[in-house]
Amino acid sequence: MIATTFRDVILSIGRSEVEPDEVDVQTSVTKGRKMKIPFISSPMDTVTESEMATSLARHGGLGVLHRNCTVEEQCEMAKRVKKAEALVIRDVVTVAPSTSIAEALALMEKHEISGLPVVDNDKLVGILTGRDVRFADASLKVDNLMTRNVITAREGITIDAAKELLHEHRIEKLPIVGDDGKLSGLITIKDIILRRRFPDATRDDEGRLLCAAAVSPFDLNRAKELDKHVDILVIDVAHFHNVRVFEATRKLMKEVNAEVIVGNIGTFSAAEEAITKLDNVAAFRVGIGSGSICSTTAVTRAGAPTLFATCEVADAVHQYRAGIPIIADGGIRGAGDGAVALAAGASAVMIGNLFARCKEAPGTLLTIGGRHYKQYRGMGSPSARAKRYAIDRYSTPAKGLPEGVEGWVPYKGEGAAVLQELVAGLKAAMGYAGTSSVSDLWEKATFLMISQYGEDEASPHDILLPSETERG
Ligand code: XMP
Repeated sequence: MIATTFRDVILSIGRSEVEPDEVDVQTSVTKGRKMKIPFISSPMDTVTESEMATSLARHGGLGVLHRNCTVEEQCEMAKRVKKAEALVIRDVVTVAPSTSIAEALALMEKHEISGLPVVDNDKLVGILTGRDVRFADASLKVDNLMTRNVITAREGITIDAAKELLHEHRIEKLPIVGDDGKLSGLITIKDIILRRRFPDATRDDEGRLLCAAAVSPFDLNRAKELDKHVDILVIDVAHFHNVRVFEATRKLMKEVNAEVIVGNIGTFSAAEEAITKLDNVAAFRVGIGSGSICSTTAVTRAGAPTLFATCEVADAVHQYRAGIPIIADGGIRGAGDGAVALAAGASAVMIGNLFARCKEAPGTLLTIGGRHYKQYRGMGSPSARAKRYAIDRYSTPAKGLPEGVEGWVPYKGEGAAVLQELVAGLKAAMGYAGTSSVSDLWEKATFLMISQYGEDEASPHDILLPSETERG
C-alpha cells in the first residue's frame, strides 16, 4: 500500500463553468453544523486560545481551544468566545440599586462593558450607563444615578425591531423583560454592529460564535465543565483507535450535550469501528504524524499521512453511508494542500502552523535579524509536555519520549489576511479543477500522481529569487 501524501499529487484540470470568485466553499464541520469556510485551527497552546477562536469563527471558520491548561482556564477561554458577541446576551451582568458606584465601575471594567441593568429581586428597576457615572462621586449608590425609565423589549423581538427601538430612543442597550418584569436577556448595539460586520460568522442557534474545545477522553470532569460553555468537544488523542480510548469516549459521549468529534484516526478500520460501535460521532479528525511539528513518524516509523488517512476514512464513511464529516489534520502548507484534502473527501482542514504565525495566536513574538517570528510547538514537544495537562495525548509518557518539536514560524500579522489568502487559493484550485462547491469537488476531482521531478517543476525554478539573493 502506498501512503500517499500531499506532495505526491496534484489536482487534474477540469472543465469549469464558474469563475473562481463564484466558487462556494461552504461546508459542514459536524453532521449538524455548517461553516462558510473549511478552515479550523488546531487545539495547540501556541495556536488556539479565545482570540484565535473568536477571529476564526467571525470569519466563517472555527477554532478548537487547546487543553494544555487548567479546566478553569480552558472554560474561561470558552466563555470569552461565547461572550464576544450574541444576539441576546443571557448571562447579563447586573447590579442592585444598593451597589456602590465604585463597585459598578469595577464591574464595567472587569467585563469590558459600558452599561449595567439594575435589578431588584430579579426585576428590572433601572439601567446604569457609562454616561450616568462618568464624572460621578464613586461613593454614591447605583440608586442615586441610574436611569429609571428604561426602554425594554419582549422575548422574541426581531433584530430589525430591536434596531428600530435602539435608533428611535438613541440608546445602546435594550433589556428583554418578561410579563413578570424579570430581566431575561439584553440586546446591545455593539452586537448588532458586529453581526453586520461579520455576516459569514459561524454561530450557534442564539447568534453567539460557535466554540469548540479539546478534551482527553479520560478527563470526564473537564468534559462536563466545558460542556456548560461549548458547542463541540474534540477528543484529542494522537491514536484514537485504541480499546481504552474507545471505551472512555463512549462513556464521555453519554455524559455531555455537546457534539463530539473523535480522532485522530488514520485507517479504514478505525473509521469502521467508530461508525459501528460509537453513537453520534459528529465528525472525524484524521491524520497521524503529518503535522509540521510532529516527530511521531520519525521516532516510531508509524503513521497515517493526512492525505492517505483522509482517503481511508472517506472510503469507510462512504461505504457505511455514515454522512460523518472528515477534518483533515496536519501537514497543510497552503491552500493547495487544503484543496487536495477536500478533494479526497474531507469537509474541512485543521491547521496549526499557518495559524501559529498570526497575531491572534498565543505564542510569543520574537525578532531575529530584523524579522519577526512567532513561537510554535508540538503538543508532544518537551516544553509543552512539561506543562503536563495535555501529556496524555501521546501514548508514551512513561518513556518520556517527545513526539513533537518546537521552533519559530514567520510572523504574518492579522489572521483575517491569512484566511483570505487560504480562501482565495482554495477557490482558485477548485476553479482549475472545474468544480463549484465542496460536494462538486468530492464528485468530480481526480488526482494525478507526480514524481520528484514534477514536484520540482511545480515550484518556481531556474531563477534566483530576491529572498535567496538577500541571504547571500
Ligand atoms: P501542522 O502541520 O499544521 O499540524 O503544524 C498541526 C497538527 O499536528 C498535530 N500535532 C502533533 N502531532 N506531535 C505529533 O505527532 C506533536 O507534538 C503534535 N502537536 C500537534 C495535531 O494534530 C495538529 O492539529
